[in-house]
Amino acid sequence: MKYGHFDDKNREYVIETPKTPFPWINYLGNKDFFGLISNTAGGYNFYKDARLRRITRFRYNNIPVDDGGRYYYIKDGSSVWNPGFKPCKTELDSYECRHGLGYTRITSSKDCVEASMLAFVPLDYNGEINRITLTNKSSAAKKLQLFSLREWCLWDASDDMLNFQRNFSIGQVEVEGSVIYHKTEYRERRNHYAFFSVNTEIDGFDSQLESFLGMYNGFNEPEVVFSGKAKNSVADGWQPCASHQIDVVLQPGETKSFIFVLGYVEVPEEDKWEAPHVINKKPAKAMLAQYSSDDQVDAAFAALAANWDRLLSLYKVDIKDEKTARMVNIWNPYQCMVTFNMSRSASYFESGVGRGLGFRDSSQDLLGFVHQIPDRARERILDIAATQFRDGGCYHQYQPLTKKGNNDIGGGFNDDPLWLIAGTAAYIKETGDYSILDEQTAYDCNPEDTGTLLEHLAASFNHVVNNKGPHELPLIGRADWNDCLNLNCHSTEPGQSFQTYGTSDGRIAESVFIGGMFVAIGPDLVELYKRKGMTAQAEAAQAEIDKMRATVLEHGYDGEWFVRAYDAFGNKVGSKECDEGKIFIEPQGYCVMAGIGVEDGRALKALNSVRDLMECEHGIVVQQPAYQTYHSNLGECTSYPPGYKENAGIFCHNNPWIMIAETVIGRGDRAFSLYKKICPAYREEISDLHRTEPYVYSQMIAGKDAGRIGEAKNSWLTGTAAWNFVAISQAILGVKPEFDGLRVDPCIPSDWSGYKVTRIFRGATYEISITNPNGVQKGIKTVTVDGKAIEGNVLPVFEKGTTHKVEVVMG
Ligand code: GLC
Ligand code: GLC
Repeated sequence: MKYGHFDDKNREYVIETPKTPFPWINYLGNKDFFGLISNTAGGYNFYKDARLRRITRFRYNNIPVDDGGRYYYIKDGSSVWNPGFKPCKTELDSYECRHGLGYTRITSSKDCVEASMLAFVPLDYNGEINRITLTNKSSAAKKLQLFSLREWCLWDASDDMLNFQRNFSIGQVEVEGSVIYHKTEYRERRNHYAFFSVNTEIDGFDSQLESFLGMYNGFNEPEVVFSGKAKNSVADGWQPCASHQIDVVLQPGETKSFIFVLGYVEVPEEDKWEAPHVINKKPAKAMLAQYSSDDQVDAAFAALAANWDRLLSLYKVDIKDEKTARMVNIWNPYQCMVTFNMSRSASYFESGVGRGLGFRDSSQDLLGFVHQIPDRARERILDIAATQFRDGGCYHQYQPLTKKGNNDIGGGFNDDPLWLIAGTAAYIKETGDYSILDEQTAYDCNPEDTGTLLEHLAASFNHVVNNKGPHELPLIGRADWNDCLNLNCHSTEPGQSFQTYGTSDGRIAESVFIGGMFVAIGPDLVELYKRKGMTAQAEAAQAEIDKMRATVLEHGYDGEWFVRAYDAFGNKVGSKECDEGKIFIEPQGYCVMAGIGVEDGRALKALNSVRDLMECEHGIVVQQPAYQTYHSNLGECTSYPPGYKENAGIFCHNNPWIMIAETVIGRGDRAFSLYKKICPAYREEISDLHRTEPYVYSQMIAGKDAGRIGEAKNSWLTGTAAWNFVAISQAILGVKPEFDGLRVDPCIPSDWSGYKVTRIFRGATYEISITNPNGVQKGIKTVTVDGKAIEGNVLPVFEKGTTHKVEVVMG
C-alpha cells in the first residue's frame, strides 16, 4: 500500500494523507541553519549543532508521536484547524504534503478555505521561511484568525530536557512589533539570540507557553486560539514560546500571504546591547528586511531550486527503469547531502544530543557526496583528520560546533583510521586536487601539534600495521564498522556502554573485516605515495598489503566464506565452527571488494554463501543464525532481539558492499537484484509494511528472524545513502572517478540493452552512451570518444567547460 506518489518532474514526493505509518520527514537548510519537518509540520531547528545550539524544542518519545513543530492554527468561526492536520487533527477536506529538495509545501483545505505552507531555508541564510497562503474559495467573505506557534528550546538540547530546576527560572524574551525575540542566557555568556516574526502587523502575541495553551492543555487545544484572543504574555521563566495572532478578512476568491521568519543571530560581544537590558536587534532586522515580500521569497526559492539543478546535473542517468532513475537523479544524492550535513546527529531516530559527527560515518558520507560540493568535502576531511592522534587512532565522534573530539565516547575503534584514506582518495579522484595532502592538520585538535594530511594518512595505515594480533590480523579495539561487535568489552552490568566499557587495547581480538578494508583501501595510499615520488614508502606499504592479503586467506577464510573475527579468547567469530553467528556480511563484502580470493574462486564461494545463507526477500541480514542469547564475549550485537539491528537485521549500509562485490566477480544480475531489494523507490508499494519514508534509505530493515520482518527503522541518517550511490552509480552503471580520469566499467543485468550517463567531471561534461547488444553483464568491446576509438576504458581528463561524446559498447 502507498500513501503518496513520486512527482519526478518537480523532484517531489507527494504525501496524500497526514496519517502515514510513521512521521515522514524532510530536511531544510544547506550549511549552518537547519530544520527537520514532518508531513504534519512537526520538527525543530538548530544552528550547526543539534545539541549545543538547538533553537526550537522537540520532545522525543512523545505521545502522540511527533508533537510540537511549526504550528499554524486557523480559526474559522468555531472550527479550528491546521494546514498540517496536527496538532488539532480536525478532519480536512483536502491534504497534500510535497517534500522537495530543501523545502516542504503542505496544502490543505477546510470549509472553502485553502491554506498552504511553504517552508524552506534560503541559501546562505540563518533562518527558516514559512510562507502561509490563505485563499477563500467560497462565494462569501470570510473572517478568519491565524495563530502561529513555535516553542523555544533553551539552546542546549540536552540540558533543556534535564535541568528543570534551572530551566524554569531562566527563560527570557523581548517583544517588539511583530517580532518575538528569544534571549535566554544572552545577558551572561551567550552572544546569540533567535527571533520569530511575520511581515504584517499583528493583533496580539504570546510568548509564555502556558498562557497560550492553558496549564492543562495540549497543543491541540490552545486556550488562546479557541477563545480567539491572544493574551500578550511576556515570558518570565517557565517555557518561552512565540505566537502571533493575525485577524484576516478574505473576500471571495481572495488570497493573502504571510511570511513568517524564524531566525538566528550572533552578535559581537561589544555590540550585544542597544540599551541596558535591551538586545541589539539590528542584525535581526536586517535579516527580516531580506524576506519581507513575496518577490523576495520567490527569488530565494528559485535560487534554491537552481542550486539543486546544478548539483544534480553532475551525475545523471537516462534509463528505462524509472525507479532507478529517480533514485540516482534525485533522491539518493539528496539523501547523501543530508547525511553529509547531519552525520548521525538529528533525525526522528537520532535525538541530536547523543552523537555528533562520526569519524567513520563522515568519511563514508563523503563517498556519496564529494562530487556535489568538493570544497565542503575538503573542509570536512581536514576537520576529521584534526581529531586524529599521532599514532593514527582517533576520536570516534566529534562535535560540529567545536570541531573537538567527543571525550565521552573516546576512541579505539580500529577501522576508523582507514576510512580517512578512503575519503581523501575519493576527494582527490574527484577533483585532482593533490594539494590537500600538504595541508598542515592538527593531531588531537591541538594546533601546536600538526602534520600534513599525507602524514595523517600514513598514520592511519600504520595504525593497522602496528596493531596486529596473534594471527597477524588487525586488532579490533572497541569495535570495527560493526559498533556492536564488542570483543573486548565483556559487560555484565546493565547500563554499561558497550562502546566504552572494557579495554580498547585488547591484544588478542582481531578483525578480518579490517584486514579486508586494509587490502581494499591501502592501494590508494600506495598510489598517492608514488605520485609524491615516495617510492620507498610505496613499496613498503604494498608489501604490507600483500602480507595482509595472504594472512586473510590463511586465517580469515574457513572453507565457504570469510571468517568475521577472533574474539578475546582467540575463538573464531562468524565461522562454520560457531553455532550462532556462523557467517557475517561485512568481511564477505570488503574482502571481495579488495579482490581477495577472486582468482581462485574463494570470493565466488563466499558470495554464494551470502546468497544461500543470509539473503531474504527484503535484503541481506548482517549475520546468521541470529544470536538467541546474550554472549558477553561478543557484546552488543547479541543484546538485540533476533532480527533487529546488528543481530541479524538487514543493515542496509553493508548490502551495497555485496552489490559492489558482485560486480567485482561480474554478476550484474545479482548486483541489481540486491539493489532493488533495499531501494526505497522499489519498496514504495509496501509502505504499510516498510513504514519509513519511501524516498530515502533507512539504516535497518527487520530481518528474517524478527517479529516484524520487512519493517524499516532509522531512516535518513545512514551510510546506506552514500554506499548505495557508490554501488549504483560507480559499480553497476559503472562510471567511476579515478586518479587519471573516469573509468567506464558497467556491470548490469543481462537484459538491459543500454542507457546514458551524463557526468560532469573536473569541469568537463561527458555524455556517455552505453549499449549492450549481446546481453552481457560485464565487459567492454569498444570505447570511442568524440568519434575516435580509445585504448582501455578510462576516459581522459578534459579541459573545463568542454563537452565530449562517449560511446561504449559492451560485449
Ligand atoms: C551505525 C553507526 C555506524 C556503524 C553502524 C554499524 O550506523 O553510525 O558507524 O558502522 O551503526 O554498527
Ligand atoms: C548502537 C547501535 C549502533 C550504533 C551505535 C553508535 O550500538 O546499535 O547501530 O552504531 O549505537 O554508538
